[in-house]
Amino acid sequence: MKVITVSNIKGGSAKSTTAIHLATALARRGKTLVIDLDMQADLTDFFLPDYPIERLENHNILSLLLGRSSIEDVIVRKTLVDVIPATLTLSKLVRVTEDPLFISQEFKKTLDKVRDQYSYVVIDTPGAAKYELTSALFVANLVVIPVTPSKWAIRAVNLLLDEISATENLFSAKKMTAFLPSLFGTSKKHREIIDRLKQIEEIPTLNEIPKSESIKTKTEKHEPLKKDSIPWFAFDRLADEVIKLIEPEFRFPFA
Ligand SMILES: Nc1ncnc2c1ncn2[C@@H]1O[C@H](COP(=O)(O)OP(=O)(O)O)[C@@H](O)[C@H]1O
Ligand SMILES: [Mg+2]
Repeated sequence: MKVITVSNIKGGSAKSTTAIHLATALARRGKTLVIDLDMQADLTDFFLPDYPIERLENHNILSLLLGRSSIEDVIVRKTLVDVIPATLTLSKLVRVTEDPLFISQEFKKTLDKVRDQYSYVVIDTPGAAKYELTSALFVANLVVIPVTPSKWAIRAVNLLLDEISATENLFSAKKMTAFLPSLFGTSKKHREIIDRLKQIEEIPTLNEIPKSESIKTKTEKHEPLKKDSIPWFAFDRLADEVIKLIEPEFRFPFA
């Protein structure tokens, strides 16, 4: 089981979009669990649009993190991917616990219980440095950092890198990270941001996810991308790149 956390301190940086379509592409390669660690619950809405609210309210990522539900109780099993959902109540996490370290360690132990059931776990995170983020970074084998063109892109990246190294110091474990440029155009300004990312040598920059109306509309309508379309291929290639990073020994058939 390999855990891929999608994270950026900045809101609206294509985190949820990336987590959704990356998980869908990984699920074609191995059994995949998605975990929603963002109270906005966009991942939950996408994969479980019709799930009964009453059930969500009692069994979700918050009840799991607080030890009130078992992992088997919170996993919703679907044909495409399995899902650990979030609800707005996740906003209470910081109030009901004072120990992100304890929460993170318990989260890891809990995930270990389903280690044999999944090849891949994809975690979506909030656009802020909270306990949810610490926990998601702690359990990650790879942190994918989607970067979108904005004045604050590099600043946000640096803040997240600080957050990652704080987690590394806390738990004395090194994290693998990769940048994923999304929504970039061909303007000089946009290319400059990508060049600055590529200058950060110790962190690889993955192939770009193009700006695409169909990515936006399909995601909003909770539909998967059209098979063999350009956006579909972009996320399919991303899945291969991610696997290459986390399982360097993995050989693709016919490669
Ligand atoms: N490749 C893309 N092409 C077009 N729109 C995109 C793309 N990626 C994300 N978006 C749009 O950008 C907005 C923010 O994306 P989202 O994934 O919700 O960001 P975050 O989870 O970081 O807040 C959404 O409206 C989403 O549909
Ligand atoms: Mg989001």
